[in-house]
Amino acid sequence: MEPEDFFGTISGGRVLDVATGDGNFIHFLVDSLKDYTEIIGVDNNKDVAPSFSAAFRKQRNIHFQLMDAHKLDFGDESFDFVCISNSLHHLDPEPVLREMKRVLRPGGFLLVSEMFCDEQTEAQMTHVLLHHWWAAVDTVNGIDHRETYTRQQLLDMVAALGLNDLTTFDLNDLSEDPKSKDFLAQLEVVFESYNQRANGHPELQSRGAELKARAKEVGFHSATTLMAAGRK
Ligand SMILES: C[S@@+](CC[C@H](N)C(=O)[O-])C[C@H]1O[C@@H](n2cnc3c(N)ncnc32)[C@H](O)[C@@H]1O
Repeated sequence: MEPEDFFGTISGGRVLDVATGDGNFIHFLVDSLKDYTEIIGVDNNKDVAPSFSAAFRKQRNIHFQLMDAHKLDFGDESFDFVCISNSLHHLDPEPVLREMKRVLRPGGFLLVSEMFCDEQTEAQMTHVLLHHWWAAVDTVNGIDHRETYTRQQLLDMVAALGLNDLTTFDLNDLSEDPKSKDFLAQLEVVFESYNQRANGHPELQSRGAELKARAKEVGFHSATTLMAAGRK
């Protein structure tokens, strides 16, 4: 079964997207869920609020709230669907997942979507290694950002929640040319910005240079994402 077929059968009801950023994952929810009544995105970074609001200005039932994912300011069992995308490696996963389960009603869906660092092709490993470099650069700049988890570590975190009817998907798209000149040119800009942020850390800058050479040599594909959803 494809994820669209699975999520297309689910009425989202009141939905919570934890660590929402500018709401990127909400676009997936809007496109995939059968329907929903309200979606709330929470994030602890106030700087993402304007881009979130701009993205959903036409949808009156999609809102942003400033909040720490480790201490959700919502009542027990107050959502029908609770999710988190590509953010567990920025957080302390155990308390965050516990909070997500607390605010979910019995029978509601909890969904974790996260890229993982193993079982990838060589071109996907460029993404994984780049991500680990970004995490190291963020860390020296005082931003919480860890390396991504293995697929099994993610499965273990979800298993510990004791959800029912667990369904998993491995999502990737290997159809693009991994050495696309356009894409490598875009990546160049990202290298430059992280390189500047690594000023004063020559070992991180040389790691960046090695990764730049790797991207040219073996190419780049986005790493596979695990989606795991189950009922409380
Ligand atoms: C890589 S972004 C993912 C954004 C979005 N979920 C997506 O899939 O594109 C990680 C997000 O986690 C947020 N974040 C980090 N620590 C957080 C915390 N303690 N509470 C809430 N959000 C947090 C960051 O501000 C950032 O927007």
